[in-house]
Amino acid sequence: MSISRLLLLPLFALLLSACSQEVPPPQSLAGVAAASDLCVIPELALDEHNDNPLFQPQTQTPLKALDPLLANVRARQTLSLNGDWNSIVDQLGVGDASPLLRGGIGENESYGPHELLEYSFKGQHTLQVPGDWNSQQESLFWYRGIVWYQKEFNYQPPAGKRVFLYFGGANFAKDVYVNGQLLARHKGGFTPFNTEVTDYLKAGKNAVVVKVDSMSGADEVPTEYNDWMNYGGITRDVMLVETPAAFVRNYKLQLAARNELTPNSSSQSSKGEQRIKGWVQLDGHKGEQSVTLNIAEAGIRKTFTTDASGRAEFEFDAKLGLWSPDDPKLYRVDWLSGDDQLSDDIGFRHIETQGEDILLNGEKIFLRGVAMHEESLLRHGRAATAADADAAIKKLKDLNANFVRLAHYPHNEHMVRAADRAGIMVWAEMPVYHNIQFSNPCTLASAKRQYSELIARDQNRAAVILWSLGNETPESEARNRFFIAMAEHVRTLDDTRPLTAALLGFGGMEDIGRYIGLLLAGEESALVGMLTSPEAPTITINDPLGDVVDVLGYNEYFGWYLSGILTQEMRKQGLDVSEDQVRELMLQEMEKFTIVTAFNKPLVISEFGAGAKQGKHGGPLEIWSEEYQARVYQQQLKMLRNSPALRGLSPWVLKDFRAPYRLNTDTQDYWNRKGLLSETGEEKMVFKELSDYYKALQQPRLEVAQP
Ligand code: GCU
Repeated sequence: MSISRLLLLPLFALLLSACSQEVPPPQSLAGVAAASDLCVIPELALDEHNDNPLFQPQTQTPLKALDPLLANVRARQTLSLNGDWNSIVDQLGVGDASPLLRGGIGENESYGPHELLEYSFKGQHTLQVPGDWNSQQESLFWYRGIVWYQKEFNYQPPAGKRVFLYFGGANFAKDVYVNGQLLARHKGGFTPFNTEVTDYLKAGKNAVVVKVDSMSGADEVPTEYNDWMNYGGITRDVMLVETPAAFVRNYKLQLAARNELTPNSSSQSSKGEQRIKGWVQLDGHKGEQSVTLNIAEAGIRKTFTTDASGRAEFEFDAKLGLWSPDDPKLYRVDWLSGDDQLSDDIGFRHIETQGEDILLNGEKIFLRGVAMHEESLLRHGRAATAADADAAIKKLKDLNANFVRLAHYPHNEHMVRAADRAGIMVWAEMPVYHNIQFSNPCTLASAKRQYSELIARDQNRAAVILWSLGNETPESEARNRFFIAMAEHVRTLDDTRPLTAALLGFGGMEDIGRYIGLLLAGEESALVGMLTSPEAPTITINDPLGDVVDVLGYNEYFGWYLSGILTQEMRKQGLDVSEDQVRELMLQEMEKFTIVTAFNKPLVISEFGAGAKQGKHGGPLEIWSEEYQARVYQQQLKMLRNSPALRGLSPWVLKDFRAPYRLNTDTQDYWNRKGLLSETGEEKMVFKELSDYYKALQQPRLEVAQP
């Protein structure tokens, strides 16, 4: 049965329904209670294994809780523990659960020739730290599970000083032993943690053993199901950090949010005077303590007295040059307290939203960006070093970008500090990715803790302009309450940055399907063509999360996934359409589509894109060809010109990245191929498409250089 005949009846129905397709106003979340994070860890059913002679998991409790995060550790006296670590792959997880292994691997026992102990690190199996194990050893490429790491080092604990063991990050769950004692436990693959080891180190030979389990869990953030490689291991720097007995633990030094300023307070003045607002937290002090802030270049020297908890909050006016992509001005900042001195390089800028605009230092801006995963451009595997960061920044500059979405989890500190120096604005994100247990208080507690760790690390980075709460989460009441709780938590910790989230709306898809269907029918039958002149669809983002965030992120794959989905749907309806017919029409027509939001807020297209295998060339409709990918970008950028609230772009994705989800072993071969660069950093045609586009946007034109 031909299209037109098939369509005639439903077509009229469609016509009727099309007219009345009012976009429902978004459901407001005002008054909706935040979810609870009262997490009760269920006891391990001890009897579960008691009859298994080989496997007796014991719930070992670390001797102490994690210590609050130290700020800017690289400005302190440190001993790097990076390099080769001995390793044991523990597939069954018996390393701390087998009665045959005495107190378990963490105790790091050595044994004599007449003693039977069935674990040892002397087997010369080593893994590089920082680094994931998957890209270091072929045999571990697909490995997800437990690996034990051991590092032995000589050390002379400095007299009168305190020492902390600091991890930039390790994926996912870690138990940290120092000289045989379990001192710390941390979960979360992308945020730093530290534990004080002053009383656990000895003069001479010391050993740190870390049990790393790369498997997260259904109740965790993220879960196991992600479109990226679950790289396991101690993926970031490890160091011993020395401090005086009393020292500056952390601080926040930023400009007061402009909406806090009273009309006559200084920042409004033209003299470049700004209002600095912040706090400093000491540790190890006795009672009230004075602490001095010195910003020599700005002629600032202020002394504050802390309260008994060692905390001082302050606000004062200062003449400062503001940080921006064109002038990423950083000031050397020194904290002095007792015997302690800690320095940092900090930029000062305002970032806020006003209606549909994003304002940087009061000026409207457009975010010319790209999204990226934390994979190195210099070798396979996780990026972890300053060199990795510089390589990524170079590519962003080549792209004429001023913005990067660090997806979908906190990237390492080198990357954020490189962005600070280079003037690249950053979207930072917590891996609340797709479907997680939104109604589980423990899941919320984990997300909140990880966000606290991220903010404690990056709160002074001018480059970080947006805190993203998550990506593509299915709408539900539990999800909404989860995000309300997260937003409250993040705003309590930092009210100087707007919040965002990458939304995924299906709302517009039906309209697009109806539109393409009518056009196809019109092509098929003149009668239908005559009767119908479908209006190009408007896609309205009305996810209730738009009520919670300040900037709307929106992921859409018109020109890639949608054409395939529509074709399947039409075929299910008995229409004999081919995918290339739908794809061709979609590509031609999408420049007439308009994406709008139901909220008077800025819109950032946080993802769009298409896959291509670098070096594969073909016709304009040839999937996986560089030509097809470039064509999708051309049409996308034309379409996005129609969006009145559009204030930024971060197409998916800078580089092809490892993704076990991608099973087309012909073209994908376990890589997500939507990169502007191949997995080894070769530019695809689309790289120039976007860099030329961003170059054009840089040319001084309208007030807000919209696409
Ligand atoms: C999603 C998701 C990404 C994923 C991308 C893709 O939108 O956020 O993590 O990799 O689409 O399908 O390539």
